[in-house]
Amino acid sequence: MISKINNLFSEISAFSAKNNDELESFRLRFLSKKGLIPELFEEFRNVPAQEKKEIGQRLNLLKEAAQEKYNSLKSDLQSTEKSFPDDDLTRPSYPWLLGSRHPISIIRNEIIDIFTRIGFTVSEGPEIEDDNHVFTKLNFAPEHPARDMQDTFYISRISPEDSNPADVVLRTHTSSVQVRVMENQKPPIRTISPGRVFRNEAISARAHCIFHQVEGLYIDENVSFADLRQTLFFFAREMFGKDTKIRLRPSYFPFTEPSAEMDISCSICGGKGCNVCKYTGWLEVLGCGMVHPAVLEASGIDSKKHTGFAFGMGIERPAMLKYQVNDLRLYFENDIRFLEQFRSAF
Ligand code: DAH
Repeated sequence: MISKINNLFSEISAFSAKNNDELESFRLRFLSKKGLIPELFEEFRNVPAQEKKEIGQRLNLLKEAAQEKYNSLKSDLQSTEKSFPDDDLTRPSYPWLLGSRHPISIIRNEIIDIFTRIGFTVSEGPEIEDDNHVFTKLNFAPEHPARDMQDTFYISRISPEDSNPADVVLRTHTSSVQVRVMENQKPPIRTISPGRVFRNEAISARAHCIFHQVEGLYIDENVSFADLRQTLFFFAREMFGKDTKIRLRPSYFPFTEPSAEMDISCSICGGKGCNVCKYTGWLEVLGCGMVHPAVLEASGIDSKKHTGFAFGMGIERPAMLKYQVNDLRLYFENDIRFLEQFRSAF
């Protein structure tokens, strides 16, 4: 009996378990009801009385050693499981902080979405432009005040007194993209051009030297003012809600004739009058008109055959209306506490 006990001592101390199955086989072999140790306790009954004390003590030590070994194998297995958490490829990954879209991008994408649904493409042009595309080919007279240094950022000016086709400027409006599209495409043309524009303005809550516009251009045979009106009415209802009304006021732009400005019924008070619409019930949102024949001709389009309409709107204004954030500067500071409040489907 003593030798059996000693053999088990060595077997137990040499035992190692690489996984839970091996741990369980340890338990079954030594500790379970039908295991080797309970079996020895059965045998112990038949041990002669004079040997009982010594054998009994050894047997108890064996049982304790087996139990301790079992506990330590078990805790070893548990700690290896914990130290390799990345081994489980099915485990959900760490949460990633996703960024959010800039409010100006959200509104721009909404505008693009509305116009692409009625067949407009999206076109872009350079922010650093020449005088030709920003002014001359859009029928601006040489002495037009918009060319003035007060308004336009000149990057290089060939002649300080007169404007020059080679002058390089930061574009003051996205209408310059109209010219580039007309130079490169034949009618029918139906496109919108979103982008950044630059004007030499003092920065305040209501004005900034950088802002965003979307330009629209539609040229084909027999395009009429009614087409312009209907297109803009569709846009206004999609953008500002089904009950939105529009009104067109006569205006002047060098590149359109006739020209108009479009107001929408105030989306805050529904036209009743509030401090956003200065109690008029109307908000000005864009400029528009029929493309001036001189503008078509300057870019190689036959103005006897083709007519077209154009419009241009700021993006900051609808963003201010939608989000009720009335300080323009917030849109340009990129403070994460501001930006992370915006969520969008676009
Ligand atoms: N370019 C004008 C601006 O920056 C906006 C504009 C008005 C664009 C009328 C147009 C238009 O295409 O037809 O104020």
